[in-house]
Amino acid sequence: MSISHNKPVILTLGATGQLGKMVADQLLKEDSISLRVTSRKKEQLPTLKDLYNDAVFMDLDDPRTFDTPLKGVDRLFLLTGGVVA
Ligand SMILES: NC(=O)c1ccc[n+]([C@@H]2O[C@H](COP(=O)([O-])OP(=O)(O)OC[C@H]3O[C@@H](n4cnc5c(N)ncnc54)[C@H](OP(=O)(O)O)[C@@H]3O)[C@@H](O)[C@H]2O)c1
Repeated sequence: MSISHNKPVILTLGATGQLGKMVADQLLKEDSISLRVTSRKKEQLPTLKDLYNDAVFMDLDDPRTFDTPLKGVDRLFLLTGGVVA
């Protein structure tokens, strides 16, 4: 599924993790939305793109990485164990 301006875009963080992957896999089945996922693992992005079509780098500890993943996003799923030092 590719990003369409006619559908709400849902950004799902943690798609390489247990809970985020469950959420992303369910959302991928929904034709009424466009799904985007993120990871800090650049080497995982090609695999995530194969799975979810739209996958971009994002690190919650680095606000400089927020612009691209948040562009056009209508809803956000965020549940990670990350801690900002
Ligand atoms: N699994 C459970 O049964 C369960 C039950 C209750 C509560 N929880 C809580 O729910 C949260 C998620 O659990 P999980 O089992 O899915 O964890 P997990 O398998 O360790 O996955 C954590 C995910 O968070 C992402 N992440 C971590 N730090 C990040 C950061 N700074 N910026 C962006 N993404 C970041 C990781 O993405 P990348 O490494 O790809 O960037 C990874 O996909 C945790 O806080 C856990 O304590 C889990």
